Amino acid sequence: MSNQNSSPLKILYAASEAQPLIKTGGLADVAGSLPGALKHFGHDIRVVLPAYPQAVERAIPIKQVASLKIAGSTHPVRILEGTLDGKVPLYLVDAPDFFNRPGNPYVDTHGNDWGDNPERFALFCRTIVSIALNHADLHWQPDIVHCNDWQTGLVAPLLAMEWNRPATVFTIHNLAYQGVYNHTTFERLRLPGSFWSVEGLEFHSNFSFIKGGIAFSDWVTTVSPTYAKEILTAEYGYGFEGLLQHRKERLSGILNGIDYAVWDPASDSALPQAYDANTFSLKRLNKVALQRELGLPEDENTFLLGHIGRLVEQKGVDMILDIIPGLVNQKNVQLVMLGTGDAQLEQRLRNAAAKHPERVAAYIGYDENLAHRIEAGCDCFIMPSRFEPCGLNQLYSLRYGAVPVVNQTGGLADTVIDASSKNLLNGIATGFSFDEPSADALWRCMERTFELRNRPSIWWEKLATTGMKQDFSWDASAEHYIDVYHMAMDNPAINPLKTA
Ligand code: ADP
Ligand code: GLC
Repeated sequence: MSNQNSSPLKILYAASEAQPLIKTGGLADVAGSLPGALKHFGHDIRVVLPAYPQAVERAIPIKQVASLKIAGSTHPVRILEGTLDGKVPLYLVDAPDFFNRPGNPYVDTHGNDWGDNPERFALFCRTIVSIALNHADLHWQPDIVHCNDWQTGLVAPLLAMEWNRPATVFTIHNLAYQGVYNHTTFERLRLPGSFWSVEGLEFHSNFSFIKGGIAFSDWVTTVSPTYAKEILTAEYGYGFEGLLQHRKERLSGILNGIDYAVWDPASDSALPQAYDANTFSLKRLNKVALQRELGLPEDENTFLLGHIGRLVEQKGVDMILDIIPGLVNQKNVQLVMLGTGDAQLEQRLRNAAAKHPERVAAYIGYDENLAHRIEAGCDCFIMPSRFEPCGLNQLYSLRYGAVPVVNQTGGLADTVIDASSKNLLNGIATGFSFDEPSADALWRCMERTFELRNRPSIWWEKLATTGMKQDFSWDASAEHYIDVYHMAMDNPAINPLKTA
């Protein structure tokens, strides 16, 4: 199905983070780049985000365009208008009591969830609803409201109460984060009483924001075809498998794209040395520069492994830590790790680096430019995620010729073609994959990387450059979203509270 010829749609795209304004993970990459791709197809898309201080600072020029009374806020909520990266119109929801604070969108400077997160994101949702119904003095009513993750989960249920609502699409980026709170919180938010029911937001005696998005939206999407199937099972569904099965006719898996204007080693200003698939050998200069930057012995012949990510159980960093004794036993292997998150994992990483200073470098923190240089400097990128809705780092790794080593789950299974003998001979292999999230399986897979590395270099170069030539740009996926928008508009879902 293709809608290239269909008339332009008006789309309100709502998320709690978007690059280059504010980012904690892949949601920001997607919310920062998919809207631009949709605009490129001629659609009138506008992004709405909370007015965090970093976002206000980076969205300039910015001006106030509306001031609204929203339930839950004692002060008027201002709507600021700016642009996302100079390209896509942007609305920032300015409620200083809720959003003008240090830390990141979800946690304080000590890493603890903000205690009033339900109030903060309920206010965000109510403001989105007001814009969606053209009640916000913006003289614009979208055809589609596209919401992302639990922070926007109340939008679809609130809109379902309205007769003149736009169509709603909800994208699950990660089902493990559900925005679950208790009954007292539910009452404090003054949500309609009918929402407290099994057909509504109630979830095992609590209530859940994400359930609102899943149960009430006209269409639900997630970020890879494999994850769309996985979440129908108890293993990956986190308690939502039944509801998702019930809605599976309205569930699509659309693979994330990436923005090659930001992630391309041929034009990346964060790199000491530009290169592409035709000048692959220049990549080694980035390796030596990275070794220097991170205090490792410099040697372009080292087999340099890397990992970047949030230090949480999902990402399987513990498995990488578990194989370090084996890695340091290999001749000329080094490992660089960039991440922040769980305090215990951070400490284990620091300990590993202190124990093997010539072999392991750990940078605990968040550094966007360093992330680019790690992709450019590494031979292999290790991503043993226990589950991975899509994953962007393996896509960046492919483009940077940092051969991905992945557990075969979610988007990792959809994007990396294993270097089996057959795939290598057919010239289609792009990485290494294993099929069980364990340190043993990861290690056996690493042994295959060592084996290929020891063959004449043409083998490795073919594998890496085949990955570099893959196209994971947004074009194809943006067209899928347009199809989904039409399906949502043409088939409004029945409000589940009315069928109860
Ligand atoms: P997730 O969204 O689950 O965190 P993704 O692979 O989709 O996983 O996206 C992660 C994004 O966050 C990538 O752009 C990655 O480079 C970035 N990232 C994660 N941790 C860090 C860090 N410590 N420093 C810099 N970038 C990071
Ligand atoms: C989530 C997922 C990740 C995905 C990202 C963007 O945080 O963990 O797999 O790539 O969202 O969709």
